[in-house]
Amino acid sequence: MNIIAAPELMRQQVRQWRQAGQCIGFVPTMGNLHAGHLSLVERARAQADRVVVSIFVNPLQFGPGEDYERYPRTFSADIAQLQALDVDAVFHPQVADMYPQWPQGTRVQAHPDLAKYWEGARRPGHFDGVVTVVSKLFHIVEPDVAVFGQKDFQQLRLIEAMVEELNMPVRIVRGAIVREADGLAMSSRNQYLTPDQRAVAPQLYATLQWARQALLAGQRADAVGKAATQRLLDKGFDSVDYFALTDHKTLQPVDKAHDQSILLAAARLGDTRLLDNLFVGGSP
Ligand code: PAF
Repeated sequence: MNIIAAPELMRQQVRQWRQAGQCIGFVPTMGNLHAGHLSLVERARAQADRVVVSIFVNPLQFGPGEDYERYPRTFSADIAQLQALDVDAVFHPQVADMYPQWPQGTRVQAHPDLAKYWEGARRPGHFDGVVTVVSKLFHIVEPDVAVFGQKDFQQLRLIEAMVEELNMPVRIVRGAIVREADGLAMSSRNQYLTPDQRAVAPQLYATLQWARQALLAGQRADAVGKAATQRLLDKGFDSVDYFALTDHKTLQPVDKAHDQSILLAAARLGDTRLLDNLFVGGSP
């Protein structure tokens, strides 16, 4: 497995493979890999001859006061896991490789209509940072297929929109959410939770399931959202940033459940924000 830091060397390697007629699958990550990431790598492996995984904690997507400095960095353990999955190359650039003009430089703007809700409303600039780094990674790795997890559903939609609107020649594949046995969606940030908070955390998914049932029984979305928020507070969450039924394409709030509506939720336990989502009528 090649570990490559320089964008030019990464591109050369991929072009060699392409000249040999091979297609490239790509999984961008910020490292600290867990079973959720590994399932994305397996999806990529099933669709491509060569698999590249990037490990880069992208400073551009963290706001002031967020966890950029303390974001868990576990490079050696990540490499061991990727080796076991037979990944062909790991792209592991430094900040200066990705942003030679840091903190200045050209940026990509996330689709404003999709970015104005939910995470975008609470983390100004976050999605511009995500689509900028993903677009740079796509230019460097030139993948045929790239796999992104559905847990960060708004991120996934913004990347799908970017690829479509900027005519990027890459197919985006959605990777299913991987959950712990008690239902908690896997996330690198789960390790910030204290044991008491960890015991409460699965209530986020339990409440999504509860809300889904209420919607399918015909209740209106605003009433379900309010009741679900109260349920989360009663179960021990400190606050709820949003709990909303939305259209899966536009991410706009909707009143009634339909086949392609998705519940999006973010709630806090102490300083840790947990995100999760659930399709109401089965994922499209
Ligand atoms: O989801 C993530 O880990 C990151 O936002 C991504 C897509 C790797 C961009 O830094």
